[in-house]
Amino acid sequence: MNTNRSCCSPQTKYNLVQVKGTWIRQTEQCQVQEGKLSDATVCETKSEDGVTWTVVSPVVFTYRVVQCKNLLDPRNDTLLWGHIGDEELKGTLSNSKPVKRFVVIDETVHELYGSQVFQYFEARGVVHRILPLPTTEENKCMELVTKILEDVHVFGLDRRSEPIIAIGGGVCLDVVGLAASLYRRRTPYIRVPTTLLSYVDASVGAKTGVNFAGGKNKLGSYVPPVATFLDCSFFHTLPKRQISNGLAEMLKMALMKHRGLFQLLEADGRKLLNTKLQCCATGRSSEQEDSASASIRIAIETMLEELAPNLWEDDLDRLVDFGHLISPELEMRVLPALLHGEAVNIDMSFMTYVAHQKGLLRTDEKDRIIQCMLGLELPVWHQDCTLVLVQKSLKERLKHSAGSLRMPLPTGLGKAEIFHDMIEDNVLCQAYQKWTDELSSSGNK
Ligand SMILES: NC(=O)c1ccc[n+]([C@@H]2O[C@H](COP(=O)([O-])OP(=O)(O)OC[C@H]3O[C@@H](n4cnc5c(N)ncnc54)[C@H](O)[C@@H]3O)[C@@H](O)[C@H]2O)c1
Repeated sequence: MNTNRSCCSPQTKYNLVQVKGTWIRQTEQCQVQEGKLSDATVCETKSEDGVTWTVVSPVVFTYRVVQCKNLLDPRNDTLLWGHIGDEELKGTLSNSKPVKRFVVIDETVHELYGSQVFQYFEARGVVHRILPLPTTEENKCMELVTKILEDVHVFGLDRRSEPIIAIGGGVCLDVVGLAASLYRRRTPYIRVPTTLLSYVDASVGAKTGVNFAGGKNKLGSYVPPVATFLDCSFFHTLPKRQISNGLAEMLKMALMKHRGLFQLLEADGRKLLNTKLQCCATGRSSEQEDSASASIRIAIETMLEELAPNLWEDDLDRLVDFGHLISPELEMRVLPALLHGEAVNIDMSFMTYVAHQKGLLRTDEKDRIIQCMLGLELPVWHQDCTLVLVQKSLKERLKHSAGSLRMPLPTGLGKAEIFHDMIEDNVLCQAYQKWTDELSSSGNK
């Protein structure tokens, strides 16, 4: 690469001010007109070769994560209007245009709730199209995205005011999010998670994606929904294994940053699993809050704390990556044997042994973490999670993390640190050996 740069003049920074519908640039020293000031700036540097303009344009995303009850009751406005504020809603309702919604729904969810979704839109007089799709991990690819885009195109949407609605698990939400981020460069969309995992994880952040070239979520975008509507009554119909699957992502937040959440999962995990977190009541005072509501609330709060300041993952030091270093490779290798949360849990279980081997966790702490995982009926070991796979995954991670491993590890119950150096081979091998010796008999799922 030619690094010779021609000699440059000092940079001039311009602010942008909107006056009578047009944007005018002005320097801080020389303000010609009063008007609406943009957050964007343009810097100009002159050289012998010409001019270089550097544009700094902060992009702001605003989205709502709304807990509600009876989302599919036609008397409930949330599904139609929960994404906009009261003032905007007044303007929209005064408009005589018919209301239109395009809905993508997971096929299984459609079998269970499709008639309620249909009734909702019929009762509200909404022009709608409901598209059921087999949104499974094996199908999570661009073909599903294209199918959605073709149907959206035929149906026709006003990309400013008619959000696409996704109803289903994390796969459905990720695929629809990607389609929406592509359609006319960015069409608003709404997430309605129907699995516990997608409720506490996939629906609260900005990531969309599909699998590609054998790699998990290799194609995707960072475009948050305009809103996420959380109704935990969907968990009623989930198999128990899917509840465990979601509890794994909640346990991740507990281990990384919330001892109280860990204690809740440790004490009440089995009850949460057996009741499918159904005692979830919102709007009560904190003294009356039951363990289902409390654990869900803390999981979402802690997740939002980590995601909101780093929505585009510019900072690669992410605690929420715990359990996601080895698991993508493992999950894709054994597909469909392990669910996403199960693969994450196997990764977390191994990393707990690494933390113990490094002297970051005491033996009793390591044992409590593993017991908690078993109480949540999560797998803690897998025969396909070999030392070779672990080493390969960590090397891949190093390659894609700007030369530093950035590995979150627990340093106690509910606290963690990010480690930047590659783990010494002997630590990794000893941790792997102990992990296998102690847990291989716990059985594969
Ligand atoms: N975007 C993100 O930030 C993010 C975060 C975590 C996970 N994910 C992604 O989410 C996906 C996993 O999500 P998931 O665990 O929800 O899996 P999933 O979408 O495959 O759903 C699991 C199964 O549950 C069924 N189902 C859904 N809701 C149901 C209900 N209420 N009753 C009965 N059955 C129901 C589905 O048909 C499916 O068979 C992975 O692809 C993962 O990469 C994304």
